[in-house]
This record gives sequence, structure tokens and C-alpha cells, in this order.
Amino acid sequence: MTLESHIVRVGTSPSYEVHVGAGLTHLVEDWARQRSNVLVVVDANVHSLHSKSLSSLDAPLFIMPAGEVAKTLGTVERITDALAKARVDRDGAIVALGGGVVGDTAGLAAALWNRGIAWAQVPTTLLAQVDSSVGGKTAVNLRAGKNLVGAFHQPSIVVADVRYLATLPRAEWLSGLGETLKTAIIEGEAGLTRIEQAQPALARQQPDALIDVVAACVTQKAFLVSRDPHERGERRLLNLGHTFAHALETALGHGTLPHGVAVGIGTVLALRASELSGKLDDHALPRRVEAWMRAVGLPTTLAEAGIHTRPNPQAVVAAMRLDKKNARGRVRLVLPLRAGVLVRDVETDEGFLVDLVAQA
Ligand SMILES: NC(=O)c1ccc[n+]([C@@H]2O[C@H](COP(=O)([O-])OP(=O)(O)OC[C@H]3O[C@@H](n4cnc5c(N)ncnc54)[C@H](O)[C@@H]3O)[C@@H](O)[C@H]2O)c1
Ligand SMILES: [Zn+2]
Repeated sequence: MTLESHIVRVGTSPSYEVHVGAGLTHLVEDWARQRSNVLVVVDANVHSLHSKSLSSLDAPLFIMPAGEVAKTLGTVERITDALAKARVDRDGAIVALGGGVVGDTAGLAAALWNRGIAWAQVPTTLLAQVDSSVGGKTAVNLRAGKNLVGAFHQPSIVVADVRYLATLPRAEWLSGLGETLKTAIIEGEAGLTRIEQAQPALARQQPDALIDVVAACVTQKAFLVSRDPHERGERRLLNLGHTFAHALETALGHGTLPHGVAVGIGTVLALRASELSGKLDDHALPRRVEAWMRAVGLPTTLAEAGIHTRPNPQAVVAAMRLDKKNARGRVRLVLPLRAGVLVRDVETDEGFLVDLVAQA
């Protein structure tokens, strides 16, 4: 069976294509061959699992340690040392092969090297395919917080090959499903119905279902990024569930919950916030979302995620206040009214949030 692939254009300037399919890495190889020289940045896990990938390019490799701990300015500096050693000039490029950590870190190095060189993303996690590889946000973490040093630097091409997903550990698979759910709710009824209908095929990681769902998420994200490349307004809808998620991740210690799993729980809280504040319009939506989450194995609460010692709700709300998307210390939320209709910048009071987080 030949699987259909999709091309989604992201209408930033310059614009670029996102290819979604199975068996597509020749596209990035063809692209890279047109550059003067290329450095491939990969993490240690992806390198050991997919060492043949892109090997026909015969390009120098920079292998970074796997995981969030490597998303630092130190790694960016080591990538730039490797770029210098490989004599990558202004017409050269970086190919980022890996999950969101590799994409965010290598993308920042591409933004800085020679004041910005071209780069390609080959996302290998579900999270990176449905979300982080599109939109050009690059960043690394500081001790003071996540993603504090970064730049907008759009890639020149993104090649999302679902074949990589076959080796994903379960926690990373679920993490990607959390962002998939978020994007489907933002898309609307069509998005929600799509993931509901695809659920059994997704559970089997059937490539056609994966391609379909990844392409739909990319299309939705591309739409928002094209209209608001620098996240001044509309693009902020993609933060659905994230103010809660980031605060839970901070309060529990980063790495306790995979990011997308925290986003799933954060989305449940956002739906509850919408309901309790009288904004929810489609009262069947929370039940529908939670039913899908249970069917795919995504926890809807911290207890379902195996976390039995709850973080102090006041501490979680204090972390929400520090979220960099807030204005003047007031917590601002994205709340769904129904699938496809969301309001952003909703300010809420402290007591309401503390009660809500206590139910996480
Ligand atoms: N730039 C953006 O717009 C954006 C959006 C969302 C998230 N992010 C960032 O993305 C990061 C999370 O991304 P992630 O979840 O992909 O994390 P990740 O890159 O750390 O990957 C998760 C784990 O899976 C491993 N892995 C990757 N591909 C694999 C494969 N095919 N098979 C087996 N193992 C594989 C990695 O080595 C790692 O251990 C966070 O740092 C977050 O801040 C960025
Ligand atoms: Zn996210």
C-alpha cells in the first residue's frame, strides 16, 4: 500500500513546506544537498535508534545528550563550535533530527550562527511532529525557567515522517497525544471528530491514521502561525491547557510528567474553569474530551498519572502567576467555549484557581 503524503505550507515570510508522510527522508536529503555544507544535530537516543537516517548525506554529526537537561546555552555553544569545525558558512545549514529538545536547541543555534542560517527540522516524536517543529519558536532553558532564551527563526523545510514514531516510548507517545488533543479542540468539531474516529487506528499506530492526524494538527498550527507569526494574539490559543501544565510541571519538578501529559490534564482544568465560570457553551465537551483521553490512555488527573502526593495548590497557582505569558502578574487563561470557539486572556481570581487546581 502506498501511503498518501501531505504538504502543508506555512505562510510566514519566507514561507516553507511541511511534508507529512511515511518514508520521506529523501526530501530532506535533497534539500540539504543544495546547501553548501550541513551539520546534522541529533540526540543520543535518536542516533542509536535511527543511525542510518540521513547517513547518505555523509554530513558531520553533532550528537547531544537526550532530554530536557541538554536544552541549554552550553549545548548551543557546543553546536556552534561544531559548525565552526565543519566550516558551515552563510549558505550552509543545520538539520535537526529529533524531538522538541533537539529542534528548539539546534534551531536557536541556526538563528545565531552567522546571524542566522537555514535549517531543516526532521521531527521524530509525535509532540514535535504535531506541534514544536512548526512555527519557528526556538529556545533553551535557564536555571530561572524554561525557554527563557530564544528567537523566532522559521525552518526552511519540515519533514515529518511517521515511521520514526514506531520506536517512541509510551510516555512520549502519550505526551504527543496531549498536544494532539489540544490542537483538535482548537480546530473545532471536525478536529475532535477526526481524533475520535481515528482512536482505534491511532492506538495501533496505523501509519495512515497517524499521517492524517499529524497533517491536520500541522494544518491548524500553520494557520495560526501564518496569521500571527510572533505570537501577539491569535497564536496564543495554542496555549490551551499550558498555563496549568507549566505550573504543574514546575510544582512537581520538571520531568515528573511528560509535557504533553501535563497539557492533557491542563486542558481538563481549562474545560472545568470554563464550565465553573459560566462560559462553557457545549456542556457535552468535557465528558467527550475525557472519554477520548481515557480511550487513548491519557490521564485526566494527577492521580491517574500515578501522582498521589498532590502539589500544594497555592504553590501551583504561584507558579501560574510567574508564567511569562501573563501581564502584570495576573493569570490569563485560554478557555474553550465549544470545540473551535475559545477565548484567550481570561483573567481569573486566585481563590477560583486554587480550588480548581486542588481538583487536578
Ligand atoms: N518550539 C515550539 O514551538 C515548542 C512547542 C512545544 C514544545 N516544545 C519543546 O519541545 C520539548 C519537548 O519535545 P519532545 O517531547 O519531543 O521531547 P524530546 O526531544 O526530549 O524527546 C523525548 C524523548 O524521546 C526520545 N526520542 C525522540 N525521538 C524518538 C524516537 N523516534 N524513538 C524513540 N525515542 C525517541 C528523545 O531522545 C527523548 O528522550 C520541550 O523542551 C518543549 O519546551 C517546543
Ligand atoms: Zn506544549
